[in-house]
Amino acid sequence: MTDRYAVIGNPIEQSKSPLIHTAFAQVTGHDISYTKVLAPLDGFADTVDAFRAAGGRGMNVTAPFKLDACEYATDLAPSAQMAGAVNAMKFDGDRVFAENFDGVGLVRDMVHNLARPLKGQRVLLLGAGGATRGALLPLLAQQPAQVVLVNRTVAKAHELSALAQRHNPLQVQALGYEDLHDMAFDVVINATSASLTAQLPPLKAQVFAPGSLAYELAYGKGLTPFLKLAQQAGVTHLADGVGMLAEQAAEAFAWWRGVRPDTAAVIHQLTVPLV
Ligand code: ATR
Repeated sequence: MTDRYAVIGNPIEQSKSPLIHTAFAQVTGHDISYTKVLAPLDGFADTVDAFRAAGGRGMNVTAPFKLDACEYATDLAPSAQMAGAVNAMKFDGDRVFAENFDGVGLVRDMVHNLARPLKGQRVLLLGAGGATRGALLPLLAQQPAQVVLVNRTVAKAHELSALAQRHNPLQVQALGYEDLHDMAFDVVINATSASLTAQLPPLKAQVFAPGSLAYELAYGKGLTPFLKLAQQAGVTHLADGVGMLAEQAAEAFAWWRGVRPDTAAVIHQLTVPLV
C-alpha cells in the first residue's frame, strides 16, 4: 500500500518538498505519495488530525506552523526543542514524534557537499531568529574554533548564546555588527531574513578571511546582496541554501523510511546559478 506523506503550510504552493521526496522515493524504490496540504491559519491541529485519520504517516512543516507543531507533538526531539520549531513529524498511533532537521541539513551540506569541514574553523552567524536557533547546536557539534553570533538586536544574540551554552560548552560570542571591527572568519553564514527583501545586513567586507565560504541560507534567489558583498570581497566559495534544503529532506526521508537517499540529483535540479 502507498504510504502517505505531505508538507503542511500556508501558503504552500511554493514548496519544493513534494518534488524532492518524490525523487527520493523513485531512486530508493519506496512506494509513497507526498502532497501539499494548505491549512487555514487557525486550523493546523484539525488539518493534521484529518491527515492522520486518513492514514498519513508523516509530515514536513513549513511557515507559519513550525511553532504550532511543537505544541502538537507528543515527543519533541532535542533539535526541535532547541530550535523552538518543528520541521518534520512522524505519526505512530497516538504518538507524534517531531524533529527539526534544518541544522543538520546545513552542516551536512557544508561538510559533505561543499567539502568544508567545520572543525577548527572560525564561524560567523548573522541573525538570531529561528534559522539561527536551528543551526547553532549542529554547528557547535562540529567543534569549530570560534562561533560568533551577530545580530541587529544584540539582546537576541545574547539570549541565543546563553541557550546554546546550556547544551554545549563551546562559548558562542554574541555581538552587534559594529563590534566586529577587524575580525575575520573562515565561514560566514547569513541566517537573517534580509535576503527575502533584497536587503543587506550591515556587514563589512573584511569579515571574509582569505579562502572563506559565504553561505546564504535562502535558496533560489541567485546572487543575493550578501553573496554579492562576498563576491566583491574576493570570496570564491559562494553557496545558497539549496543543498541544506535537500539535506534536511534526506534526513526526514531516512527517519521515515530507514534509507538515506543521495541528494546530488535533486540539488542539481533545483540549483539556480549564483549570478
Ligand atoms: P527566521 O525564522 O527566518 O530566522 P526571524 O525569526 O523573524 O526569521 O528572524 C529574522 C532575523 O533576521 C533576525 O535576526 C533579524 O534581526 P533582528 O532580530 O534585529 O530583527 C534579522 N534581520 C532581518 N532583516 C535584517 C536586515 N535588513 N539586516 C540585518 N538583520 C536582519
